[in-house]
Amino acid sequence: KIVPVIMAGGKGTRLWPLSRASAPKQFLEFLGEATLFQKTLTRVADEALYAPPIVVTNNDFRFLVAEQARAAGVALTSILLEPVARNTAPALAVAAIVIARQFGEQAVMQVLASDHEIDANDVYFACIAKAQAAAEAGRLVTFGITPSEPATGYGYIEIGEDLGNGANAVRRFVEKPDRDRATAMLAAGGYLWNSGMFMLPVGLFLRELRQYAPEVLDAAADAVAKAKHDLDFERLDEEAFARAPDISVDYAIFEKTPIAAVVPSPITWSDLGSWDSVWKTGKQDDAGNVADGSTTVLDTRNSLVISRDIHVAVQGLDNIAVIASEDAVYVGRMEDSQNVGKLVKHLAALP
Ligand code: GDD
Ligand code: MG
Repeated sequence: KIVPVIMAGGKGTRLWPLSRASAPKQFLEFLGEATLFQKTLTRVADEALYAPPIVVTNNDFRFLVAEQARAAGVALTSILLEPVARNTAPALAVAAIVIARQFGEQAVMQVLASDHEIDANDVYFACIAKAQAAAEAGRLVTFGITPSEPATGYGYIEIGEDLGNGANAVRRFVEKPDRDRATAMLAAGGYLWNSGMFMLPVGLFLRELRQYAPEVLDAAADAVAKAKHDLDFERLDEEAFARAPDISVDYAIFEKTPIAAVVPSPITWSDLGSWDSVWKTGKQDDAGNVADGSTTVLDTRNSLVISRDIHVAVQGLDNIAVIASEDAVYVGRMEDSQNVGKLVKHLAALP
């Protein structure tokens, strides 16, 4: 069976002020009843295909994870708690070590982000089957999405030779290119976006970590060896885990490994990572506006207006995001959506 690993430790700062330090976006009800995290659990609920999932998250979110899993009726293999945030490479290193111990090095793990909106239909599960086959054949597998614009928030995958069974080698992996580079790759053609979901043979993934990110692997191994079991949680050792460099798996492994493959995946996928993606995914009216909550929108085009609490009225806007939570308001240009994280860092630095 595939062992699902759900990464649920991100802070989601680009969706401030709805996504907050105490409750990041994956735990919020966004465009529906269940949270993005709960919808992710549902995608790996088929017991014929999957073992119970492992969730890797930050210590701060442990009760959100436990409660939302319980509310969704999903039993977990374990909840691994990071004492400090070190991005996805250390999180996945820890998960791989735990899985190798419990399921063996031959096990295949499916990595899922907890902030994606995905239609789990037949096409999706056909892609999962192709990825599983390619992983069992010795590849670190990514899922490729057809790009629609020169987005700078994604990884770009240059498609290489056909490996058969619906997978291709990865010729090049470029994480989060700047606008010019993204535009050039789109114009050149032959590139896909990295979906942020992976299918990994655990033993080979650990081998690549040893090769390309030994500091990540050493810190992760030590943090697992010294972990403390506490109720439903595995608390990773703080001193050991803090030694891991802060780096994502895309930079640490996928830009470097020669054994990556991509399954081109014509799935309905959206990374609800920033306000422009929420706007694109949302239900636009004739003027291209997406409004949610208590709002009045007049003489406005291509804008996103969300209010959770107070009434927000806008007039004469074009390409603007206006987001009001109960205690903070964000207003910015849609094309600056990737920069909201920077603003939040600035806010956090205020006394
Ligand atoms: N456990 C844990 N610990 N999870 C984390 C951490 C961490 O320190 N940091 C992020 N995550 C989780 C997030 O909650 C999210 O579910 C997932 O890992 C991916 O992190 P993001 O921060 O959302 O990554 P990204 O969107 O900037 O980039 C990744 O996804 C893109 C597609 O959505 C990359 O893989 C890109 O290449 C890819 O295109
Ligand atoms: Mg993301």
